Amino acid sequence: MKINNKIEDAINKQVNAELYSAYLYLGMSARCTELNLKGMAHWLYVQAQEEMTHAMKFYRFILERNGHATFPAIEGIPSDWKSPLQMFEAAYEHEQKVSALINNIVDIAIGERDHATASMLNWFVDEQVEEEANSSEIAGKLKLIGESKEGLFMLDKELSARVFVDSTQPAGAA
Ligand code: FEO
Repeated sequence: MKINNKIEDAINKQVNAELYSAYLYLGMSARCTELNLKGMAHWLYVQAQEEMTHAMKFYRFILERNGHATFPAIEGIPSDWKSPLQMFEAAYEHEQKVSALINNIVDIAIGERDHATASMLNWFVDEQVEEEANSSEIAGKLKLIGESKEGLFMLDKELSARVFVDSTQPAGAA
C-alpha cells in the first residue's frame, strides 16, 4: 500500500533529522580530534556512521512504499564546543529530542492505521533507548572524572574500542 502524504512528510522530515544527527556527531568528532581525544573522536565518528544508517533506513522505507523522497537543506550545527562534557550533555539532550520525534511519528502512524510504518518504527523506538543511554552514560562518566587528566585518558581509551555495526541490515547482509 502506497504511503500516505502525512506519513511520507513525517518520515522525510525524519531523514533530514537523522542526517542532521550525523552532521552533529561528525562535528563533535572533529572537535575531539582537535582536542587530541582520539578515542572520543572515533566513538563520535562511529555514531555519525550509525546516524547515516538511520537516515538510509527511513529513506529506503519511503521508496519501498512508493513514496516521494524530498531533500530540504540540512541545518548547520554548533561548533563552539568547550569540553567533552558539554558535547555529551548536548548529545543526550539531542537524543531525547530524536526520541520525541520518533514517538510523534508512531502516534501519526497509529492515527492513520498504518501498521507497516508502526512496525518499522518499533526498531527505532528500541534503538532510541540505547542512543539515550549511551550519551547519558558517557556524560555521567565525564562528570565523575571532573578535572582528572588520568580519568579522561582512560575514558578516551575505552571509547576508542567502539566498532561500527550496521544494525539496520539483517545479519549476514552485505
Ligand atoms: Fe538516529 Fe541518534 O538517533
